[in-house]
Amino acid sequence: MTPLVDTLYRRYWHLVAHRSEVAEPGAWLRLDWAFGDLVIYNDDGEIGAFDNICPHRGARFFVGDHGVGPMLCPYHGWRYGGGVLKPALAKGFDPEVLAAQSIGRYAVAWCGDFLFVGIAPEQALADQLGEAAGKLETVSRLITRRRDFHALPFECDWRVAVENALETYHVNLIHGSTLASLGMVEKTLIVDGANLTWEGEVTDKRTLRGLSALGRYFDAAEAYQGYWTIHVFPFAMISSTFGYSYAMQTYFPAREGRRTHFCTRLLDGRVRPGAERAVEAFLDSSAEMNRRIFDEDREICERVSPAYDLDKPVRAFAKSEERLRLLHERLRHLTPLS
Ligand code: FES
Ligand SMILES: [Fe+2]
Repeated sequence: MTPLVDTLYRRYWHLVAHRSEVAEPGAWLRLDWAFGDLVIYNDDGEIGAFDNICPHRGARFFVGDHGVGPMLCPYHGWRYGGGVLKPALAKGFDPEVLAAQSIGRYAVAWCGDFLFVGIAPEQALADQLGEAAGKLETVSRLITRRRDFHALPFECDWRVAVENALETYHVNLIHGSTLASLGMVEKTLIVDGANLTWEGEVTDKRTLRGLSALGRYFDAAEAYQGYWTIHVFPFAMISSTFGYSYAMQTYFPAREGRRTHFCTRLLDGRVRPGAERAVEAFLDSSAEMNRRIFDEDREICERVSPAYDLDKPVRAFAKSEERLRLLHERLRHLTPLS
């Protein structure tokens, strides 16, 4: 891991989940990051973040993306529940050695219904998020459930993937039949410390008519009437069109090489009572569209040459790439932990 990546991982809180994803006891989700697995688990109502390694002989408690079930190691039956590690046939062990065993845990903090995980964060979460905290909290309350979870590696430096998500310059060429149909035009760019909020207008008349007509099915009056995205520095993004659904992305750098553990989730906004069936097909097609958009992004990101120097001091950024310039500057001036 480069010193920069290590510093970003350790110094910052990382957005990893929405409360609705782990609402019921036993609900879990698993993400890949530079330290192996990160598991979010609802232990009888207490939501924690774990390293997914059984302390006995290292088997993983959970495999797959998400599910509901006990935190039970399939190898020899050790279990974790109610905040306690319960070895199977405990009498066969030296009690002192057993007492020293524990599962690796990370700190957790909430912004509204968004869950953040920290390794050794320098600041309280609210301080890290600054003004963006209020926005994120409001958004988090407008989300009701997860519709889709799509994890896939991008074979590229994490900065290539995040930079791709931070500009609209590529949209017409790369997303000609998907995102380009919105006819997005930048309206506002808000810099909240390291977090960047971008708001755009949907200018394509046909798309706009279609989206406006759906308004009667959603309880999204508080949502921004257009397309917006927030880069939750350093490794997460969240975006929405009209607040009908929300796409949440994590871009965790891999430990070695030029690989990014990417995951996108499509989360539903608030649907008016009785309109659930009317919007089902729309939300399913939004999830499918979301996957397509990120497959398109993955393909072009993997085409960026590993020999291209992301650190070169003078890089050409268009006006529509202002967020890249800001990110580039921030990363250039960040002092890595020694
Ligand atoms: S490795 Fe988990 S119980 Fe043995
Ligand atoms: Fe894109």
